[in-house]
Amino acid sequence: MKVKKAVIPAAGLGTRMLPATKTVPKEMLPMVDKPAIQYIVEEAVAAGIEDILIVTNRAKSAMDDYFDYYPELEDRLNASRKERELAEVRRAADLANIFYVRQKETKGLGHAIWRAKHFVGDEPFAVLLGDDIMRAKTPVIGQLIQAAEKYQCSAVGVQEVSTESISRYSSVKVEPLESNVFTVSDVVEKPLREQIFSNYAILGRYVLYPCIFDILEDLKPGVGGEIQLTDGLRQLCQRKRMVAVDFEGRRYDTGNVTGFLEATIDFALDHPLTEKWLKAYIKEKAKEL
Ligand code: G1P
Repeated sequence: MKVKKAVIPAAGLGTRMLPATKTVPKEMLPMVDKPAIQYIVEEAVAAGIEDILIVTNRAKSAMDDYFDYYPELEDRLNASRKERELAEVRRAADLANIFYVRQKETKGLGHAIWRAKHFVGDEPFAVLLGDDIMRAKTPVIGQLIQAAEKYQCSAVGVQEVSTESISRYSSVKVEPLESNVFTVSDVVEKPLREQIFSNYAILGRYVLYPCIFDILEDLKPGVGGEIQLTDGLRQLCQRKRMVAVDFEGRRYDTGNVTGFLEATIDFALDHPLTEKWLKAYIKEKAKEL
């Protein structure tokens, strides 16, 4: 079955980016000239997704406004012949069919995904976490969709991380299937040293079957007292086939200041408006260090 829908959970409180995120949603912070959330939406669209549900909360209405038309601004840009800006402003609003649902209580990632139940219906769907921004030749979620369609099953995006850092992620128990694809038989969220299955961590991309919703509905809070998606995946992979794709591409954790800066610099080095200037600036700066 084709994957045409995506869910982007974006209801976190942004506590790692305070004080900036006290009043501006972290997903709306600009990376070069676009808000972070637009990179995620563009990745989904590039992978053939048509309908996107963003799970928000009461402090995030700037996101709905961003993906809407803004007639007064567009008229002004038109009148002053700012064609590039006008095209970019319109493009953001026309990227995809974007829907919103609120997570009324901050109860964890699993709970946020569960809010997508009615939007998803009975098709497999993609999940892209708002903090994990990717730079890849082929959209990372597209790499997962390919594997999920080939094996007709759920898929998670993984990469190897160090033993010291895996306790910040989830660890996946894997057996080789083909080149960069593995069969998943277990997963654990924020593992203690003795719980680590492998150094493959799930990094923010999933293709899931709707049976995950029945599992999430009955899930008890896990690590940090939150309903964890990983605990749901643990049951899902024990009931049905799940694969892990060791994806090509670089992942940035833009939920913290250093990851956000790394992504901003790398995207600015790729951007026609900033590339030349930034290279010269970095060379100049390096002399002072
Ligand atoms: C979440 C997931 C975790 C995953 C991580 C990176 O954790 O719960 O399994 O490895 O994202 O994508 P969080 O960063 O919200 O603590």
